[in-house]
Amino acid sequence: MKIFIDTADIKEIKEALSMGVLDGVTTNPSLVSKTGKTFEACVKEILEVVSGPVSVEVVATDHDGMVAEARSFAAWADNVVVKVPIIREGLKAIKTLSSEGIRVNVTLCFSPLQALLAAKAGASYISPFVGRLDDVSHDGMELVQQIIDIYGNYAFDTEVLVASVRHPLHVVTAALMGADVCTVPFKVIDQLLKHPLTDNGLKAFLADWEKVKKG
Ligand code: G3P
Repeated sequence: MKIFIDTADIKEIKEALSMGVLDGVTTNPSLVSKTGKTFEACVKEILEVVSGPVSVEVVATDHDGMVAEARSFAAWADNVVVKVPIIREGLKAIKTLSSEGIRVNVTLCFSPLQALLAAKAGASYISPFVGRLDDVSHDGMELVQQIIDIYGNYAFDTEVLVASVRHPLHVVTAALMGADVCTVPFKVIDQLLKHPLTDNGLKAFLADWEKVKKG
């Protein structure tokens, strides 16, 4: 399973890259707004350090506007993936952009039927928002399983990108289900590594080393 980081914070991106586990980045307007930078400056700074896919979201809500924004983002770097919301005009934009070879990450997916339509239109990625579904008492990971099953039934190439991840259990469940990608906030990437038995074991080894070292 590929691991993307869900942030626009360049420090977090650089730290995750140095850990050797990062395959890509997803951003959205809310994440960019937290950086205090302008949208273009923020995204271009990310593109300078990341070679994997970087998702950049359009804000237009009509086909022509989305396509114009997407074309300008795609000109910034080869690894730009354009994020488009799953609305009717978005579907039209996915079709246009995919026919031009611009990869699209379809965002704000909350149902298996939205995912089916996105794949039919030519999406490269579908992003089910699992945490936001959990927030309203729907099992977000159940949606992920439904999408994996549907895409498997018809051999769609669209990759299932688990988004709105809130905790390590989302990540382990995504991996067990065979999701293609999980986009994870930095805090959760750090949590994936933690185990108290690792910390206790290391502490004991270092204490015992003190007893046997020379001098
Ligand atoms: O990038 C989209 C998604 O991951 C947002 O997550 O935490 O705002 O629901 P969240």
